[in-house]
Amino acid sequence: MSSKVVMDTLQASHARQYCKFVPEKVRKDFPILKSTIKGKPLVFLDTAASAQKPARVIEAVRHCYEEEYSNIHRGVYYLSQRATENFEYARERVRAFIRAKKSSEIVFVRGATEAINLVAQTYGREQLERGDEVVLSQLEHHSNIVPWQLLRDQIGIVIKVAPINAAGELELDEFSDALGPRTKLVSITHMSNALGTITPVTEVIAMARARGIKVLVDGCQAVPHLPVDVQDLDCDFYVFSGHKLYGPSGIGVLYGKQEHLNMMPPYQGGGEMITSVSFDQTKFAAPPHKFEAGTPNISGAIGLGAAIDYVSQFDFRRINDHEQDLLDYATKSLSDTRGIRLVGTAADKGAILSFCLDDIHPHDVGTIVDNEGVSVRAGHHCAQPTMDRFGLSATVRASFGMYNTRDDVDALISGIHRTLEVFDT
Ligand code: ALA
Repeated sequence: MSSKVVMDTLQASHARQYCKFVPEKVRKDFPILKSTIKGKPLVFLDTAASAQKPARVIEAVRHCYEEEYSNIHRGVYYLSQRATENFEYARERVRAFIRAKKSSEIVFVRGATEAINLVAQTYGREQLERGDEVVLSQLEHHSNIVPWQLLRDQIGIVIKVAPINAAGELELDEFSDALGPRTKLVSITHMSNALGTITPVTEVIAMARARGIKVLVDGCQAVPHLPVDVQDLDCDFYVFSGHKLYGPSGIGVLYGKQEHLNMMPPYQGGGEMITSVSFDQTKFAAPPHKFEAGTPNISGAIGLGAAIDYVSQFDFRRINDHEQDLLDYATKSLSDTRGIRLVGTAADKGAILSFCLDDIHPHDVGTIVDNEGVSVRAGHHCAQPTMDRFGLSATVRASFGMYNTRDDVDALISGIHRTLEVFDT
């Protein structure tokens, strides 16, 4: 597809009316939601771990392999050109979705984890020196902690952590205090996967920017729920995974401002990321290809483009209103349930509910509600420092997507009552 056709399509899609968002209709677009689990209708409440896929995404991946598959950026033949156009069109869809200035600022990676490792090992190794500081928050997923620890062990940076309060909200004053003359980077989640807290990234970025500090935002949990505009945010890097946005697994996005991507060294070497190679030296391709060594996840990127098309047919505010309604309904229903302790009660919260039930281990809750057809995550949610803040090793977590309804919340509550009966509390 030529870039003109791409732009026309995008303009048409921006100009078009949104489809009415009707959750009961949306459910029908997700084939797996028709399943039964252990004889009960599937109630899927683990979207924060990975979202289910609409038929449009499954069809895009099928189409890629059955009708337009070949390697990309390499062939002069028809199929290769089609596959390349489809792949690059997906990049353009991502660009438009997060409102980046240029598609060359969009790097396809395996997921947010790889994106953060890439920034740590390229930008971090090049720009940070021994004693320089990276500021994180106590809400971070392990994938936004461990890459910085690896860098610390390699070059001697210092990691500082901004605390959260008892509601799971970032302590902005203490965050500000953590920013010092040696702080070079803030790396912070947009929305906590463990508690649902939406962090005040606009304020965080403004505070960092005022001191000349760069900011990476982990948008994994935010992009499926909130409209994101990276130019408006004015962050330096923004990362997310495709599979949480109703797209395939194994594909994700690193957005980086062009000026950063231009000066960052490559992450991995290989084919695709070069303009010329001899045994003496290699000239690297321009971003984003400089960071995409090897054959990429072609069908994954195309599937992600389809997922973005799918969610973009609706007004994001309607999706968000619906999910907030579910969150409010679930919070109220759970609060009225015997033995519940909600963990994470931030005023600004996405559709994630973490809780403990009496002294019943979260894994036992997860197993019993699964017998009722309800899928929730139980554990530390790859956020052990967040759990530590509350003196816990684990919680039960129900997380909602665009396809959930109040009936799903009712099924969860009934599963919790069943758990209480089993434990005879
Ligand atoms: N980060 C994913 C979760 O929150 C896996 O469950």
